[in-house]
Amino acid sequence: MSISCPIPLDEFTASTTACDRTVALPPGCFWDPEFYRFELEAVWGRDWFCIGRVTDIPDAGDYYTITVGNEPLLVVRQGDGTVRVLSNVCQHRGQLLLDGHGQASQIRCPMHSWVYDLSGGLTYAPGFEDDDTFDLGDVCLPEIRSEVWEGFLFATFDDTVSPLAGRLARLKDQLTNYGLAELKAPTPLEPERHDWNWKMYADECYHCTYLHARSFGSMFPVPPDAIDEDCEYNDAENGIMAYTLIGQHLDGAATRTGKVLHPILPDLTERERSRMGFITVAPNLLIVAMSDKVKYWVWLPAGPAESYLGVSWTFPEDSLREPKFVERWEMERKDLHTTAEEDLVGWSRYQQGISSRFAPRGRLSGFEKTIGRLQDWLIDHYRAAASE
Ligand SMILES: [Fe+2]
Repeated sequence: MSISCPIPLDEFTASTTACDRTVALPPGCFWDPEFYRFELEAVWGRDWFCIGRVTDIPDAGDYYTITVGNEPLLVVRQGDGTVRVLSNVCQHRGQLLLDGHGQASQIRCPMHSWVYDLSGGLTYAPGFEDDDTFDLGDVCLPEIRSEVWEGFLFATFDDTVSPLAGRLARLKDQLTNYGLAELKAPTPLEPERHDWNWKMYADECYHCTYLHARSFGSMFPVPPDAIDEDCEYNDAENGIMAYTLIGQHLDGAATRTGKVLHPILPDLTERERSRMGFITVAPNLLIVAMSDKVKYWVWLPAGPAESYLGVSWTFPEDSLREPKFVERWEMERKDLHTTAEEDLVGWSRYQQGISSRFAPRGRLSGFEKTIGRLQDWLIDHYRAAASE
């Protein structure tokens, strides 16, 4: 079914990389409520998106909740070891079921105590015990299609989109030496709500040299020739846009020592150890492949000018068991704190500026190729949804 785009499709042409002077998306893409509703269907309703890592819920009954646009979701590890993504909405009158993360043997609605098993089947509804017109078996929590890729959990509301594994097969091979599927975070992902549009997170390193000159840049220098925007991970057709930061020595990192603090991932090549890969899997996952860990960022829409952002660092179990793990982890987070704050302030200031009547559609620089590639991917989705 075709849906109409509130911004004329012709206006997007100038934001594609097919144009030799690519400009930013129209400002309304970042604040217009009608465009937000369009995008929830055109992008979030018709493709895969990332909703965290299954390594955060290792045992049967472990769960976490996460919200994508208007959809509260519940991710639950089943007794058979698989993971299901369920609607976190009670099928009685729409009450939200669980919050945050935890462990449960069943899912109980706080309002009227309707109870579901971990797979979403209704097992108890008080007051209906003797009602012949009510069959528990008729009610279950809707399940959302999902796929696990290298420990990351992806979901889609579209039953017709191709399986994700094919789209990310090449990236899986490229990242083999990082052992991604086995990496675990010391604490579960906890996305936080912010007052800017989800597309503000689009990653580039043009700003690294300037905004982060005295923070990140003082620990990991980023001269323009350190940024390789044509690195091997790029795969436009499959929605993967990437750059690598080339270090001045092996195992470089933005820490007080200029090097990674945790044990080196054992299977990495010298080439892999000499660079950091910043890999965006559209629309909402950024993987940062480093010598001692893989960090990731996940962002989700929450409103025209609101979004959630979660950041997590994943390590091999051996690194997590190191006696000095927590000390090193806290040290590195402290070292990166200013950089992270600068980004948060920057995104918030973008949102304020982009809502102005004088908001621009400025030219993208040669150091923002990842943004141009992401715009291509988005515009393909806008056009496909509006012309079906
Ligand atoms: Fe930044």
